[in-house]
Amino acid sequence: MPQLIGVPRESFAGEKRVATVPEVVEKLKKLGFRVAVQSGAGDAANFSDEMYHAAGADIVDTAQHLWSAADIVFKVRGPTAEEVGLMHEGQTLISFIWPAQNPDLMQSLVARKVTVLAIDSLPRTLSRAQKMDALTSMAGISGYRAVIEAANAFGRFFSGQVTAAGKVPPAKVFIAGAGVAGLAAIGTAASLGAIVRANDTRAEVADQVKSLGGEFVKVDYEEEGSGGGGYARVMSEGFQKAQREMYAKQAKDVDIIITTALIPGKPAPKLITADMVRSMRPGSVIVDMAGEQGGNCELTVPGEAVVRHGVTIIGYTDLASRLAKQASTLYGTNLFRVAEELCKTKDGVINVNMEDDAIRGLTVIKEGTITWPPPAPKAPAAQPKPAAKPVAQAPKGHGAASEPASAKAIAITFLVAAVVFWFIGANAPAAFIAHFTVFVLACFVGYMVIWNVTPALHTPLMSVTNAISSIIAIGALVQVAPPIAGDEAGRPASWIIGLAVASIALVAINMFGGFAVTQRMLQMFRK
Ligand code: NAI
Repeated sequence: MPQLIGVPRESFAGEKRVATVPEVVEKLKKLGFRVAVQSGAGDAANFSDEMYHAAGADIVDTAQHLWSAADIVFKVRGPTAEEVGLMHEGQTLISFIWPAQNPDLMQSLVARKVTVLAIDSLPRTLSRAQKMDALTSMAGISGYRAVIEAANAFGRFFSGQVTAAGKVPPAKVFIAGAGVAGLAAIGTAASLGAIVRANDTRAEVADQVKSLGGEFVKVDYEEEGSGGGGYARVMSEGFQKAQREMYAKQAKDVDIIITTALIPGKPAPKLITADMVRSMRPGSVIVDMAGEQGGNCELTVPGEAVVRHGVTIIGYTDLASRLAKQASTLYGTNLFRVAEELCKTKDGVINVNMEDDAIRGLTVIKEGTITWPPPAPKAPAAQPKPAAKPVAQAPKGHGAASEPASAKAIAITFLVAAVVFWFIGANAPAAFIAHFTVFVLACFVGYMVIWNVTPALHTPLMSVTNAISSIIAIGALVQVAPPIAGDEAGRPASWIIGLAVASIALVAINMFGGFAVTQRMLQMFRK
C-alpha cells in the first residue's frame, strides 16, 4: 500500500513557506506516494488548495486529520509541542530540526517513537547530496533578499548614473562572509550596479568573489581560515584585531554592509562594533543575516529593523520566507530529492537506509532512538602506494640499450624516407615533383602551426581538420578552374571535376561551420 505524505500548514507565526508545491506533488505521485495537503497550507506562498488538488493532492481540513493520517510528514520549521503531540509511532518527519540547538524537541520526538530526518543535518560535503541541500537553497534566496531589503531601506540608486539633474555615484556595498548567502548577495548587488567588496576568513573564496563581480578585500594578517568541509574556524586574536581594523576602514567608506559570517555551532562572530556603526554615513544600511545566531553586528535586534546613529540595521531572521513562492518551490524540490533517495523502488514506500551516507547524515532519530550526531565519515581506504615502476633491466652483455634503440629507430625512419623521396624524384614526372614539394612543405608548416598550439586554445578554426579542409579546398579549386588559354587538352576528366566540386561543398560545410561555432563561442564570453 503506497504511503501518504502529509503537508501541514506551517504554524510558526509569520512563516509563509510551505513544504511542497503543486508541481512537486505531481512528481511525488510519480514516485508512487499519495499526497495530502492541509487546507490553506500554500496560501501565503500563492499556492491555492485548488492548485494542489489539480496536481493530485487530497485537501485535508484540519491539522489533526493530516498528522493522524500521514505516514510521512513534510514540514519547513521543526514541529511545535502541539504538533509533536499529534505524531504517532512509526511516522516519519522530514523538516528543519537543528538537533544541537533543540535537545528538548529531540527528546519529545523520541518519546513518540518516530523517525526524523533533519534537512539541516545533510552532509554538505557529499556532491551527491547537493540536490537535497535545503540550507544552500534557502541561504541563496536569503542572500538575494538581503540585498533587496538593503535597497529598499537605502535612499539612493545602486548603480552610478549621469542624469541631466546631476551625477549619481554608485552605491558601495561591503559583504562580510562569502559563503552561500554572501556569494548570492555579491552577485545580486553587483548586478544592480553597485561597487561590491567582500571579505571572508577562507582565502580560497577570493576567486568566487571576483567571478561574481566583487572585489575581495584581504585582512593584512597571514592565517589559514578554513576549518574543512567548506566551513570557517575561529581565528586567532591577532587576526581578529587586524580584521577589525580593516572592517572599521570599510565601515567609514561604504553605504551598505551585509553580514553573513558564521562558524557552525558557534555564536556569530561580532564583526561590526557600535563604533563602526557610528562612523557610517547617515542613511547607510546594515543587513545582519546572522541575527538568529546572535548577530554579526553589536547593535542588531534579531527579527527587527531598527535605526541606530542614523544607520538602518535590519536583523530579519525570515529572509527566505519573505520570498515565499520561490523558497517553497526550491525547498519542495529538495524534499522531493530526499524522497527519491528514500524510495528508489518508486513504489511509494520509503526505506530509511542507514548504509547510505546521505540518509545516515539526515536521520537524527530512527524509530524512537537518537542517531545524531552521525559517526564521522569513513576515511577513504588507504590506497596502496603504486608499486615503483620496475626499472627496465638491460639484458646482460647489451649495455644501456634502450636510449640508442630509439635513436636507431629515428635513423632508420629517416633512411627509409630518403630512399622513398629519391625514388619519387628519379621516376615521377617533373610536374608531380613540383606539387609534391609544395605538399610536403605545406604538411610541415601545418604541423608546426597546429601542433605547437596548446590544445586548450584550439578553436574550431584552428583545428587539424580545418587545416586539412583548406588543403583540400585549394586542390579542388585548382581542378575546377577553367583551363589556361591554349591548354584545353590539360583539362581534367569530368569525373575528377565532379569529385572536386563535391569536395568543395563538403569542406565548405566544415569551414563555414567552424566560423559559425567560433562566433558562438566568442559570444559566450561577451556580456
Ligand atoms: P556559510 O557557512 O556558507 O557561510 C558563512 C561564511 O562566513 C563562510 O564562508 C565563512 O568562512 C565566513 N566566516 C566565518 N567567520 C568569519 C569571519 N570572522 N570573518 C569573515 N568571514 C567569516 O553560511 P550561509 O549558508 O551562507 O549562511 C550565512 C548566514 O546567514 C548564517 O548565519 C545563516 O544562519 C544566516 N541565514 C540567515 C537567514 C535569515 O533569514 N536571516 C536565512 C539563511 C541563512
